[in-house]
Amino acid sequence: MMTTLPVTANSDHELLAGASRRARELTEPLLRDAVERLGPSLAGIGAYHFRWHSRDPAATGKAIRPTLALLAAEAVGAAPSDALPAAAAVELVHNFSLIHDDLIDGDVLRRGQPAVWKEHGVSAAILLGDALHSEAFEILLGRGGPSGAAAAARLAAAMREVVVGQVEDIRFTERPWTGEQAVSVAEYQAMAEAKTGALLGFSTSAGALMAGADASTVECFDRLGRHLGLAFQCTDDVLGIWGDPAATGKPVLGDLREGKKTLPIIAALAADVPASARLVSLVGAETRTESDLRLAAELIEEAGGREFAEREAMRHLTGVTDCLVSLAMPAEIRASFEALAQSLIGRTR
Ligand code: IPE
Ligand code: IPE
Ligand code: MG
Ligand code: MG
Repeated sequence: MMTTLPVTANSDHELLAGASRRARELTEPLLRDAVERLGPSLAGIGAYHFRWHSRDPAATGKAIRPTLALLAAEAVGAAPSDALPAAAAVELVHNFSLIHDDLIDGDVLRRGQPAVWKEHGVSAAILLGDALHSEAFEILLGRGGPSGAAAAARLAAAMREVVVGQVEDIRFTERPWTGEQAVSVAEYQAMAEAKTGALLGFSTSAGALMAGADASTVECFDRLGRHLGLAFQCTDDVLGIWGDPAATGKPVLGDLREGKKTLPIIAALAADVPASARLVSLVGAETRTESDLRLAAELIEEAGGREFAEREAMRHLTGVTDCLVSLAMPAEIRASFEALAQSLIGRTR
């Protein structure tokens, strides 16, 4: 019997793979230059973080943000290279945020290898992060052409949001698990939009801006990126509990071990079902063994926390589709955005 192949899905997937490969190829030379400029000591640590020595493409970053910036430029009819300074800048600040985030979270693994702070020390992680941050602005202001300054202003505002989101994320860990002071789903959403959505919003909006789009189109691209970012973060939270460390390159049950208040657990506790009560006694305990963490993951699932987070990710995909409907763009670019959105919720790493 003949089986029907999902031709469309497959070709959309290929379109996205091509867009993502191109984003890596175009941005990597700028990233390498930026890191080289830091002098031999820091450049070596930068190369370690970006894993340029690795032969395994799955070990490097996914380049979601540069891919989005270049696609947005193409969507408004420009050459993708017009958005290259934005693509490189966002990947630099993203990596800055990861290097500092691992230090803040005490995470020892990133992209399957020891995090920068673990391998090269806390000072190196702080300084490399700082350097990547300023390199991003140097690229936008030095190579960004007439829209470079406006893009830099957008990046500065987005980074302020990221910082505020990170602060909220940390403060959540100090809040009680239940009661009036517990973190609500709405508070989580605001935090996630700031910590992750703002930078994806920058990627799409700065891509459009550098390609000469008008102000309302730029804002529409910002909303598109923010929905993508929220879908991405909801999925990240699911992977932070149930992800396979071989694929994520991050520690198993990492978010539960750190007592992070991520969406699945917030929703599971808010559900107020019998599993929620059992979960409270586990997460609130002074010490937690590996089997406690595994049981907590099961209880979160039983209380519907995983399903809630997955549904939230889907809801933001609808937001992505709504934004795409209101934007005129070539069919292939639209299909690439749609495939990218799908890949964010279906991802394993
Ligand atoms: C991880 O981002 C940090 C979050 C915002 C959750 P990515 O998963 O895009 O990181 P890389 O660059 O692909 O490693
Ligand atoms: C990542 O936050 C967001 C930023 C780095 C700004 P998380 O702490 O949730 O992400 P992972 O899971 O470590 O990548
Ligand atoms: Mg982290
Ligand atoms: Mg964090």
